[in-house]
Amino acid sequence: MKKFSLILLFLSVTLLGYSQITGTAHDFSGSAWNTTGRICIVCHTPHNADLTVATAPLWNHEVTTFTPYTLYSSATLDATVGQPGDESKLCLSCHDGTVALENFGGTTTGTNFITGPALVGTDISDDHPISFTYDAALATADGGLFDPTTTNSGLGGTISADMLFAGRMECASCHDVHDDINGFFLRVDNAGSALCLTCHNK
Ligand code: HEC
Ligand code: HEC
Ligand code: HEC
Ligand code: HEC
Repeated sequence: MKKFSLILLFLSVTLLGYSQITGTAHDFSGSAWNTTGRICIVCHTPHNADLTVATAPLWNHEVTTFTPYTLYSSATLDATVGQPGDESKLCLSCHDGTVALENFGGTTTGTNFITGPALVGTDISDDHPISFTYDAALATADGGLFDPTTTNSGLGGTISADMLFAGRMECASCHDVHDDINGFFLRVDNAGSALCLTCHNK
């Protein structure tokens, strides 16, 4: 009986696959630069959080102050793309390569920076555009986008509710920092480009 419930527990954890940061690229509990041995503390703190980024959830990592980023542009882009918004700044606080990974909880003198393919950098002109309002008007102007306020069959809810931050596209529209079940922390499994087809009506 005990064995049976253990098997059930194992099946529910592996098959139902709820959000799980442990063991992902964002589990820094075993990183040499993280002497706390903890996971959440690198990004969040229960007390004395950094309030400089208004919408940040109990933020504990030093926030990037880099400006101006080189932004995406093209002849067909309809959106008005601005400098990275609050949610994206949280990601760029490690991924633009200007702030050390161990600069959290007040430390500002770290020496370990992101390198390799995860380094997005301060030139984001070669990355999918972020930090702009995605609304029904943009969908109409573009002609090849779903109206984000209508229920999306792939998501179950609306694009606005499930992927946008105060109506804006940010890094976390496509990524969930805490859940790597789809690989690359993607919110939607991109097999058959399903992630792209959530918003693009192509
Ligand atoms: C690598 C940085 C990072 C780590 C580590 C991290 N988070 Fe987060 N967390 C974020 C970012 C960025 C956001 C805001 C973007 C978003 O909501 O997706 C966030 C949002 C949240 C939120 C509010 C939104 C939501 O998803 O409910 C909660 C609660 C949260 N984190 C809890 C945790 C806990 C608990 C841990 C540790 C087990 C943890 N986080 C580890 C970066 C991190
Ligand atoms: C505390 C620093 C930190 C923050 C904040 C952070 N990341 Fe990361 N992220 C990392 C590190 C370190 C890696 C691993 C790099 C490596 O393996 O070389 C990583 C890896 C990744 C990867 C690659 C995963 C893979 O499987 O290869 C993605 C995607 C990613 N992060 C997205 C995000 C997004 C989006 C946000 C914000 C919502 C964010 N990260 C916030 C430090 C951070
Ligand atoms: C429109 C969706 C979308 C947005 C917005 C987005 N990403 Fe990604 N990102 C992806 C996909 C899809 C991948 C998987 C790799 C690929 O297809 O190239 C990825 C991969 C990554 C990787 C891993 C790169 C590698 O080769 O290891 C990092 C790091 C990352 N994203 C960070 C970010 C950050 C930081 C932002 C905001 C500045 C961001 N992403 C915005 C869709 C997005
Ligand atoms: C959460 C919604 C969303 C997701 C997911 C998404 N996109 Fe986008 N994408 C947009 C919006 C909105 C624009 C802005 C379109 C415009 O202004 O013309 C855009 C812009 C683009 C552009 C630039 C268009 C231009 O005219 O310059 C390309 C190309 C693109 N996306 C491809 C992709 C691909 C490939 C994926 C999957 C990896 C993806 N998108 C995922 C919403 C999304």
